Amino acid sequence: MTNTRITHIGSHVDKEVAISGWLYNSRSSGSIAFLEIRDGSGFLQAIVNKADVSEDVWNDTQKLTQESSLRLTGIVSKHPKKENVFELQVKDLQVYQFASEYPIAHKEHGPEFLMDHRHLWLRSKRQWAILRIRDVVESAVNEYLHQEGFVRTDSPVFTPNACEGTTTLFAVPYFDLGEAYLSQSGQLYIEAAISSVGRCYDFGPVFRAEKSKTKRHLTEFWMMDAEAAFVEHEENMQIQEGLIKHIVKRCLEQCQEEFAILERNIEPLQKVVELPFTKLTYDEAIKKLHEEGSDIKYGEDLGNDDEGLLTQHSPVPVFIHKWPKSIKPFYVKRDPENEDLALNVDLIGIEGSGEIIGGAQREDNIQYLEERIKEEGLNEADYTWYLDLRRYGSVPHSGFGLGLERMVRWMSGVEHIRECIPFPRTVNRLKP
Ligand code: 4AD
Ligand code: MG
Repeated sequence: MTNTRITHIGSHVDKEVAISGWLYNSRSSGSIAFLEIRDGSGFLQAIVNKADVSEDVWNDTQKLTQESSLRLTGIVSKHPKKENVFELQVKDLQVYQFASEYPIAHKEHGPEFLMDHRHLWLRSKRQWAILRIRDVVESAVNEYLHQEGFVRTDSPVFTPNACEGTTTLFAVPYFDLGEAYLSQSGQLYIEAAISSVGRCYDFGPVFRAEKSKTKRHLTEFWMMDAEAAFVEHEENMQIQEGLIKHIVKRCLEQCQEEFAILERNIEPLQKVVELPFTKLTYDEAIKKLHEEGSDIKYGEDLGNDDEGLLTQHSPVPVFIHKWPKSIKPFYVKRDPENEDLALNVDLIGIEGSGEIIGGAQREDNIQYLEERIKEEGLNEADYTWYLDLRRYGSVPHSGFGLGLERMVRWMSGVEHIRECIPFPRTVNRLKP
């Protein structure tokens, strides 16, 4: 007897195999039961014919409840009509556990109910598909960066100072050393590591005490920060474009079943792989927004609606670069052609996905950096180590941070970011 997983079932046609999983759904018509089984690797229809099984097995089949765990033995057959779909003609069935009445039935439930049952909701087909897309996105990120010579050097979560402004810090008591802050981005640490390995990245959870209750904000999310020595503003954008194209390509190759479950139209994604991305300076973006009727003022951050207006007719993501320095963090390099501007860049995704990446060339001039730290009212002593990087072999360098859940949200085509991380943390949600 071969134990197999549903994903490999196609290589066992006409053979006897055993599958272990859970009952997702079932229907019965007289002496035949159709069981929809999931085992984590996929979904499979198992057919129990009363005439082919023992009385005990038939009785158990009748008693099966949604989410009961079981092991099935049977012969693999091809679906009579559908190409590349297989079924299991059951000979034997062993129940690990008859599940208690499952709270999530196959009907519409409200989002709060589903979020309260997130630990169970993860088993639904839709959530299964999103979890798997997330996994493909993560692998694609690792794969692309390694291919481009980046070394993974992970950053700490407990930090003594802010990276992205002091207003969104989560503080935690830290023994006799006062307060520690949960990292907002590992950027400053990988800026140190580039002087060892040249190009590096981190990938892990970051935290923002932001009271934004939007469909795109979490308080804990995963960020991939990449940083490279001797890379300047233009090349920074090239690397970002290459990364996004690679992720989209991998999703198209590996997530066909998942996209089908989510009813995600993949045509827009195909174009993203083929066409070059658009670039607009902040000045150009503001001009365009005014033409579109927006009342945004020069010097303001782009809102959700502005991002929508700038990407609505674009088949590809849009880089918005060279923003006013005054609304960007202390570490961005000033534009040598206009010192009011910064050599930073945001990448805005299409299909309403919003800002996916934030990045910049970093200020490598220690005097300018010291000025900016003062201007921002940051405690200089906390940044001594960071300033050391500009004392000992400072180099032009750039980097960027990709918000994993933003990317997964875009790829999956789901409305709300809370479905794009296994256990979301938002302003109002800390459980389960
Ligand atoms: O634009 P951000 O704030 O950039 C940084 O933190 C830089 N230090 C990164 C770097 O240069 N290494 O964040 C980067 C990305 C955003 O573009 C967005 O995709 C995501 O992180 N992001 C969030 N995702 C979910 N919830 C939030 N509250 C987010 N805030 C930012
Ligand atoms: Mg940003």
